[in-house]
Amino acid sequence: MNARSITAQASPNIALIKYWGNRDDSLRLPANGSIAMSLDGLQTRTSVAWEAGQAADSLTLNGIPTAGAALARVTNFLDLVRALAGFELHAKVASENNFPIGAGIASSASAFAALALASSRAAGLDLDEAGLSRLARRGSGSACRSIPGGFTEWLLGTGDADSYAVAIAPPAHWDLADCVAIVSTVHKPTGSTVGNTLAGTSPLQPARVADTSRRLDLCRRAILERDFAALAAIVEFDSDLMHAVMMTSTPQLFYWQPPTLAVMAAVREARAQGLPVCYTVDAGPNVHVLTEASRAGQVIEFLRAVPGVRDVLRAGVGGPARLLP
Ligand code: PMV
Repeated sequence: MNARSITAQASPNIALIKYWGNRDDSLRLPANGSIAMSLDGLQTRTSVAWEAGQAADSLTLNGIPTAGAALARVTNFLDLVRALAGFELHAKVASENNFPIGAGIASSASAFAALALASSRAAGLDLDEAGLSRLARRGSGSACRSIPGGFTEWLLGTGDADSYAVAIAPPAHWDLADCVAIVSTVHKPTGSTVGNTLAGTSPLQPARVADTSRRLDLCRRAILERDFAALAAIVEFDSDLMHAVMMTSTPQLFYWQPPTLAVMAAVREARAQGLPVCYTVDAGPNVHVLTEASRAGQVIEFLRAVPGVRDVLRAGVGGPARLLP
């Protein structure tokens, strides 16, 4: 145990093959494997100190003391670290994001990856990459993919012990950019933790799950061969397939808004004109538009001209979660 405060930094990630639905909600064991790209330039920094004499965990988010559901989720997560470390101390957690919350960038992924690294290290644990990824998974499924850097694959596994993310290619492997078209910053009505529990209510989910290894193979190969056309085809298909499940769940989850569709149409049009570009949409209305880094300027320009687009954020391919001095 280390009474000193330990600080870790992690990047969010964008899924290229989506995780949607769990086979075990409490362990967050996914219904299907997924592939993602870590996002450079965006990050969460989290400091953790385990304090003797503190009666409960405390949480500060972007400098603001926070209680309620956010603190309860952090406390549930810290219970896992307490169990691993074999003590009952409480922690002081301070977390900061350098990107806007509600921008369609999964802040829970970078948040729980940074929290897993900082809290376990501060507790005197020295977990390896797989161990950290498994721990981060328990906070938010997609967080397990923010432990290794670059292009990552979250292995389905057979249970808690072998469901974690591994790097399939380092950040320098392929210079891609994610241009995030912000069409709304309103907080989504149904977050992904609840959404994931509804996936099984769609009659389309079994077909989506059964087809996963085909999509994973196509996506992995496109990344390893740096084949943008192949990547574009499978990434858009996979995003549409997940949204088909969402739209046909009970209750229905419908995340797209009119500008979401306008961006998708503009991306298809730009691709038809020869630009290497494709879209993918998470559990919200904003659109992640992927391209080769050398074309990002052009992509941002055409995205800004789409009616309903308020802003465009740009990210490159990010590195692994790491400790800060
Ligand atoms: O990790 P969660 O519970 O935030 O779920 C993430 C779900 C999606 O972002 C929609 C897909 C994914 O694989 O990241």
